[in-house]
Amino acid sequence: MISTHTILFNDSRNVTYVKPESVDLVVTSPPYPMIEMWDGLFSSFSDDIKITLESEKRSEAFELMHLELDKVWAEMYRILKNESFLCINVGDAVRTISERFSLYPNHARIIASCLKLGFDPLPLVLWRKQTNAPNKFMGSGMLPAGAYVTLEHEYILIFRKGNKRVFKRAEEKLARMRSALFWEERNAWFSDLWDFKGTRQTLYNTDLRGRSAAYPFELAHRLINMYSLYNDTVLDPFMGTGTTTLAAIASGRNSIGIEIDPAFREHIEKRIQSFIPYATEPTTSRISSHLQFIKEYSKNKDTPKYFNANHGFPVITGQEKELQLFSIEGSSQNGTDTTVIEYKPLGKYDSKPPVKKLRSPQEEQISLF
Ligand SMILES: C[S@@+](CC[C@H](N)C(=O)[O-])C[C@H]1O[C@@H](n2cnc3c(N)ncnc32)[C@H](O)[C@@H]1O
Repeated sequence: MISTHTILFNDSRNVTYVKPESVDLVVTSPPYPMIEMWDGLFSSFSDDIKITLESEKRSEAFELMHLELDKVWAEMYRILKNESFLCINVGDAVRTISERFSLYPNHARIIASCLKLGFDPLPLVLWRKQTNAPNKFMGSGMLPAGAYVTLEHEYILIFRKGNKRVFKRAEEKLARMRSALFWEERNAWFSDLWDFKGTRQTLYNTDLRGRSAAYPFELAHRLINMYSLYNDTVLDPFMGTGTTTLAAIASGRNSIGIEIDPAFREHIEKRIQSFIPYATEPTTSRISSHLQFIKEYSKNKDTPKYFNANHGFPVITGQEKELQLFSIEGSSQNGTDTTVIEYKPLGKYDSKPPVKKLRSPQEEQISLF
């Protein structure tokens, strides 16, 4: 099996070069309207945004910023195949403008926009990002009645274009069986509350660090495995540091990442290259977690009734019998913008978890997930 990963430096408000109905999944996180770090970028999209921000017209600025994002959601609707998913990680903003402290509900505005485009909204995930920062409580402290609830979550909005996906051809059916999740992964990943830690990544370019707002590898990795199959194509119109691309490489999906800021190019290219030698790790850690789970399950509950045909380990349901995991065997460049990854099916395991590749301290420094 091979997968291809293309990075493009363009404006996602207009992606006419991507064919209609050619993409199987979008996983992304836009710049968040009304979060100060993105004021400059939104102002560069339209003078009206700059003017409304300068004249402190709060609601107008919020709406104008979303009108720019709406153009990207419309493009996503056009390029997504029927029966496929759009997953958007977004947080609301809080801000004081003209001495008025207020919430700017980005998630609600994006849901309204995607509904208008024709997407069906599906149950969403709350990503809890708890902080221990001493200044996390906002407002008047212990004195009623002017304190504000701490904003410690973001959203993962999930939409579908059209009906439920139908798998007719034998090869699609096989890809679906091979792309199965473990039972215990299904239970954790399809819950509406995610609570994993933030990214540990170190960016090469320190100036970019402040501008990246990267999401954790785990977030993209879960969504890709939940909403697409091997060989599907995942697109991220707000690529940033390329986390979606890395998760697609690890998951055996093709990917296209689009980023407006060319300053990210060097960082993304380096990040992909340094990730490849370790790109089987997320898979080996899925196996280790599964074997650990089976051990606990057998101790506490019951003997699992099924065996996975490809790996030989026990599984809980018949749907996991054909699940097939892959290791990454090699990579090559196709021009400057596309990386090709080769995979090999992983074989049988005994009860011992696979050994993890150890990193040198220097490699640990550029830790990617
Ligand atoms: C929240 S960050 C995405 C971070 C990314 N998920 C990651 O893990 O690194 C949003 C990114 O979208 C980019 N961006 C904003 N507007 C864009 C547009 N119209 N087209 C393409 N990229 C855009 C920004 O430069 C920024 O890098």
